[in-house]
Amino acid sequence: MSRGSVTSGAVEIGSRVFLRPARASDRDAFVGLRRASRAELRRWEPEPPEGFDPFGDDAFGREIGVPIDGSECRWLVCRVSDGVLLGRVTLGAIERGPFQNGRLGYWIGTEHSGRGYMTEAIGLVLRRAFGAMGLHRVCANIMPVNTGSRRVLERNGFVKEGYSERYLQIAGAWEDHERWAITAEAYRAVP
Ligand SMILES: CC(C)(COP(=O)(O)OP(=O)(O)OC[C@H]1O[C@@H](n2cnc3c(N)ncnc32)[C@H](O)[C@@H]1OP(=O)(O)O)[C@@H](O)C(=O)NCCC(=O)NCCS
Repeated sequence: MSRGSVTSGAVEIGSRVFLRPARASDRDAFVGLRRASRAELRRWEPEPPEGFDPFGDDAFGREIGVPIDGSECRWLVCRVSDGVLLGRVTLGAIERGPFQNGRLGYWIGTEHSGRGYMTEAIGLVLRRAFGAMGLHRVCANIMPVNTGSRRVLERNGFVKEGYSERYLQIAGAWEDHERWAITAEAYRAVP
């Protein structure tokens, strides 16, 4: 397959990863990757709604059923060299008007972790957020013990803005979270 066809549909292309919306034919790869990564993802992901299977068709349905009101973007993270699905990023809770803010969510398949893929993917999200989407601020909330997630944010220029106790329900418990963010001005100031 040529590089052009591998990256077809991409909204942002980096040196090793690219972002593109999910399509129906991604179902098996998506569900398979999440199921294989279940043990790790369970530790960090917000509690799903009652009756929602976060490791099956429900989760994939959410990827292709993005609301049309512009409040959320979801992109698969895929490898430039062969198109393989690596993970997923979301920019949700998008508010326009005087706020121009979006909230990041992300995961990588466990078999692909620790290779710098998510660091590059978040860089691509920021390029899009502060470029084509015209946002002013991107934020992310992380559990203090999630070292990998913190490093991804630090490496992309986010700063820690605050700390919220018992902020989000993860794996059945209300967990404290650090609140991180980056503004368009800070993003453009990075050399
Ligand atoms: C957090 C996560 C997205 C990181 O993705 P990744 O592709 O492995 O990250 P990278 O390879 O780009 O690594 C970035 C940095 O984090 C470090 N890192 C990655 N995983 C780590 C881990 N489990 N423990 C400690 N450090 C870790 C890397 O060594 C690297 O550090 P460096 O900048 O000092 O070299 C991934 O581990 C994941 O999906 N975790 C489960 C879901 C999750 O936590 N999502 C975020 C919720 S807020």
